Amino acid sequence: MMSAGADGGGPALSTPERVVFSAGQIDRRVRELAAEISAAYMEVDRLLVLGLLKGSFIFMADLVRAITLSHQVDFLIASSYGAGTVSSGDVRLHYDPVTSLDGRAVLVVEDIVDSGTTLGRVLPRLQARDPSSLEVCALLHKRLDPADPAPRWVGFDAPNEFLVGYGLDHAEDFRHLPYIASL
Ligand code: IMP
Ligand code: MG
Repeated sequence: MMSAGADGGGPALSTPERVVFSAGQIDRRVRELAAEISAAYMEVDRLLVLGLLKGSFIFMADLVRAITLSHQVDFLIASSYGAGTVSSGDVRLHYDPVTSLDGRAVLVVEDIVDSGTTLGRVLPRLQARDPSSLEVCALLHKRLDPADPAPRWVGFDAPNEFLVGYGLDHAEDFRHLPYIASL
């Protein structure tokens, strides 16, 4: 093991300590979600799957490849955390999809619902653009407050710990891990 600053490049990164959801568990659950989503939108024309970046990028990539209906993909960039592990509550939208949402079935894909602030800010803005339907698929949900947005699809109920991997970061680290771990 390298100790802090052993390479002269500053303090060592903390290492994720406990695997919470393995790559195999995630893979099975993503396939189940994709099957449910494919069935739910069977009758729908022009499904738009809208990923909330950056955290959802790996989940999105796996999910859309397992959805058996033809659909389009776009992204939305929002951030609320900065470099901390507690939501700042200040949600910034850096990129709004240019795709028209008017009359379209929109499925927002989120990595994790924590305080619910991000979805609480983003969903009304999307709703204002007159989609024919607006649903959410979140990979993880911390279920902190019964008043939090209730996504139609949730992959896993998450422990109230700071999770990283499979797209989730801590100060931009760990997104590439193929599993989800607790810091
Ligand atoms: P919320 O607005 O508090 O619901 O938080 C939503 C966003 O914060 C998520 O889309 C994540 O990007 C980030 N986030 C919340 N909890 C965690 C966590 O445990 N690990 C990594 N990112 C998180
Ligand atoms: Mg996010």
